[in-house]
Amino acid sequence: MNDDQNLGKLESFWMESTPGRDYGTLEEGLTVDVIILGAGIAGITSAYLLKKAEVSVALIEARKIVKDVTGHTTAKITSAHNVIYSNLESNFDSNGARIYAEANERAIDKIESIVKERNIECDFKRIPCYVYSEDEKDMIKKEAKACEDAKLPVSYTESTPLPYDVAAAIKYKNQAEFHPRKYLLNLADTITGNGSYIFEGTRAIDVKKGEMNEVVTDKGSVQAKNVIVTTHVPFYDPGRLFARMYPSMSYALGFYASEPFLEGMFISTKLTFTYRSTPSDKGEMIIVSGANHKAGHEKDNFEFYKKLEKHARGHFNVKSIDYHWSTMDYITMDKVPYIGKVKFDSRIYVATGFMKWGMTSGTVAAMIITDMILGNDNKWSSFFDPSRSKPVLESTKEFLGTNIDVAKELLSGRLSRQKSYKPSELEKGEGRVLNVDGNKVVAYKDENGKVYALSSVCVHLGCQVNWNNAEKTWDCPCHGSRYTYDGEVLHGPALGNLKRYEVLEK
Ligand SMILES: Cc1cc2nc3c(=O)[nH]c(=O)nc-3n(C[C@H](O)[C@H](O)[C@H](O)COP(=O)(O)OP(=O)(O)OC[C@H]3O[C@@H](n4cnc5c(N)ncnc54)[C@H](O)[C@@H]3O)c2cc1C
Ligand code: FES
Repeated sequence: MNDDQNLGKLESFWMESTPGRDYGTLEEGLTVDVIILGAGIAGITSAYLLKKAEVSVALIEARKIVKDVTGHTTAKITSAHNVIYSNLESNFDSNGARIYAEANERAIDKIESIVKERNIECDFKRIPCYVYSEDEKDMIKKEAKACEDAKLPVSYTESTPLPYDVAAAIKYKNQAEFHPRKYLLNLADTITGNGSYIFEGTRAIDVKKGEMNEVVTDKGSVQAKNVIVTTHVPFYDPGRLFARMYPSMSYALGFYASEPFLEGMFISTKLTFTYRSTPSDKGEMIIVSGANHKAGHEKDNFEFYKKLEKHARGHFNVKSIDYHWSTMDYITMDKVPYIGKVKFDSRIYVATGFMKWGMTSGTVAAMIITDMILGNDNKWSSFFDPSRSKPVLESTKEFLGTNIDVAKELLSGRLSRQKSYKPSELEKGEGRVLNVDGNKVVAYKDENGKVYALSSVCVHLGCQVNWNNAEKTWDCPCHGSRYTYDGEVLHGPALGNLKRYEVLEK
């Protein structure tokens, strides 16, 4: 673990404040009703709802449950997804905005009802959420009107409880926050037994279609009539959804301030800084999050933590920063998640592209897909359908602009333009592209001087990985695959490790 003195531990507060669970690896040869791949909020909620409906499930997780993105979220449960309803109105129509609003509001209710029903101690609390701008009144007024049209519980205001002035804000009533791992680990406890299973340390690598679908994993195969792919970015992707999204990184700091935090969650439109608080052993901890950028593109990831630190110290009397962490989420072309059947198949489902709002969107996904499998009507399903032909112009143009560099990365391979370095030129703790005699090599030197040399070619589609100096990972700038410093795959869509090379010199 890499600790920065000013930024506290490199660890998510949610991970550190809850013990993990230990489930075994796959028992080969099983048959269940539904196989669910990936145990974040979308996968666990789907497994929970299906098991409750007396459907047998196998939830298969490549690493540990609730660890990847959901273990590193900031867990605001809200329909206030920054400025979105005015965009949805123009990309779709007012009915689209209404469906999106209703689905997210019902997801908040669903989480609350599960918490109450199971009496889960997960610090769930209903509170208001403010979306504010420090300088743009008209944009907030337009968004507030779109929210009202979408029947959201909002009001326009020019004051918030924040310790600094805002030009305008939308106050969403009755939103919520919780501790995501306390909630989801509790749901996971209900899944195993009576013909249902959770397996960890088991990576799915293929889905073979048939009367019974067969999921092939690195620990053997398992069969089911229905398969749900909730692996954050789908590894089984006949509709090539990965090409209709891009990965965006965000950062979070957990800190303590002299003054008590304000009642609410806060989302700034401009720099996308968000604030919430959470109970902790040391008292009320404030979480600031944001500083977004496209994943795998930055030279110095610490700069983004520093941006958050500057904002927090500029606005609060910060006593100490105890935690820093980061993760990423996928942004879709029309700003709406992809939830439903994968292309060309009627019994394989996918949920992805949560746009940094997966607490509600992951729950919406579980509700829609569960209804589809159980044969219940669901009035939101066609709006979220991954095969939808909308959206129209504006968001498509914006998306193509953002994604143009993927084509560049794939076509050019930037190594030829880069200087060559020898492993001996690496500093301890440094990761760098070496470009040894034109060969695509990257390397990291650990604190003891050991060098880990790897192919720089992402095993997904061949882009060149870049060093993330804050997390000590190799991140792919194209579709978000991530690898440890010694090449093990951490995050898809890549399914395998970076090729390891022997180090020729120290
Ligand atoms: C910094 C940050 C803050 C955020 N804050 C908020 C917030 O306040 N509110 C909000 O609503 N949303 C927020 N989000 C977004 C939210 O955290 C995500 O949308 C959500 O957690 C994604 O959940 P998931 O289930 O899709 O993915 P994950 O939690 O990543 O789960 C997917 C699982 O699939 C597993 N997996 C991957 N490949 C395979 C395979 N081949 N076989 C088996 N298993 C596999 C992974 O190991 C992982 O456990 C935030 C995101 C970021 C980046
Ligand atoms: S994630 Fe697609 S090429 Fe790396």
